[in-house]
Amino acid sequence: MGVACDTSAARLADSRFMKAVHRQPVDTTPLWIMRQAGRYLPEYMAVRSKVSFMELCKTPELACEVTVTARQVLGVDAAILFADLLPILEPMGIDLEYQKGEGPVIHNPIRGSHDVDRLQALTSTESVDYVFQAIRLIRAALPGDIPLIGFAGAPFTLASYAIEGGGSKNYVHTKSLMYNDEGAWNVLMSRLVDTVILYLQAQIQAGCQCVQVFDSWAGCLCPADYQRYVLPHVRRLIQAVEPLAPVINFLNGNPALLSLQRQAGGQVMGTDWRSSLDVAWQTFGHDVAIQGNMDPVSIYADLPVLKQRVGDVLRLAQGRAGHIFNLGHGVMPDMNPDHVKAVVDYVHELGRR
Ligand code: CP3
Repeated sequence: MGVACDTSAARLADSRFMKAVHRQPVDTTPLWIMRQAGRYLPEYMAVRSKVSFMELCKTPELACEVTVTARQVLGVDAAILFADLLPILEPMGIDLEYQKGEGPVIHNPIRGSHDVDRLQALTSTESVDYVFQAIRLIRAALPGDIPLIGFAGAPFTLASYAIEGGGSKNYVHTKSLMYNDEGAWNVLMSRLVDTVILYLQAQIQAGCQCVQVFDSWAGCLCPADYQRYVLPHVRRLIQAVEPLAPVINFLNGNPALLSLQRQAGGQVMGTDWRSSLDVAWQTFGHDVAIQGNMDPVSIYADLPVLKQRVGDVLRLAQGRAGHIFNLGHGVMPDMNPDHVKAVVDYVHELGRR
């Protein structure tokens, strides 16, 4: 058994994706696509038409099927666990619902310091065991050279959902709590971080080779606020997880935060399209890997234009070791799956060393 395990671990470590994570040379640029298992894909809709989104997340066999199928249909270099950012909040005390066409809704949002005590840190991840069951099934079903990426929300992004009760434009409630009661804010963020540490460690133990932390909404903060209210929490999270597996630290929406994002840690910096990749990489420093960063709206372009736009991103990476191609944000439900597949072929073709 020792030998078989060593061999399969070695094959995964030798994959294009893991080599790029560790900034080792690769034959061509590896990629995966955020939300690669989503509504744009007919194979996903075939499963999704029979169950609700939450049922899909909580049925390991189905979560496995959509994860593995999307990876295979696209031919990308890594799979990402099918799950969502928010279900981890449920056992912490949040009443979560996915409404048709509305996205996630929280019926009992945290609306002030007096509410913070309603959100309890998890001391065990048993209540989300369906996630680890899915991971074990996915790992067993994936080809031996395809790594599996786990993920969780970063504390600010999770806090903003728990506080606003859904998506938000100005984050008024979140920032009010942050500014008015820094003590309560830190308690809330610490509980989220404690929980996400356990959650990501358990994902890695169940079979993920790498994990991504999504700070999808932290871009709404100015640098001073990110530094004061968010960075120490993200840093603690990443420091606790990275001894077990590499972390992709993804932050969306604010190029002014790049150097602080780097300070928060992570072996890979995930970045959106608002900075050009060469400038972002220079700001992060070339001693870290980078993931990104084509504007997802490029997928709507005609194929020859799309190919040029893929080439533009690859040119800025200059074939340097440690580039993982991705979109700067998730693929959208009305995108043409053939165009998404074309991106995969273009990256592998144009990224060849
Ligand atoms: O990338 C993948 O394929 C893995 C699966 C994944 C989903 N959500 C599936 C999903 C991942 C990694 C996420 C992360 C996520 N979830 C984020 C951060 C990503 C980012 O965009 O920065 C956020 C903000 C959420 C919360 C969330 N979940 C929203 C806002 C919505 C509604 C919007 C929408 O697209 O419907 C969801 C639902 C959701 N999560 C869907 C999928 C495939 C669509 C649900 C459906 O089938 O109806």
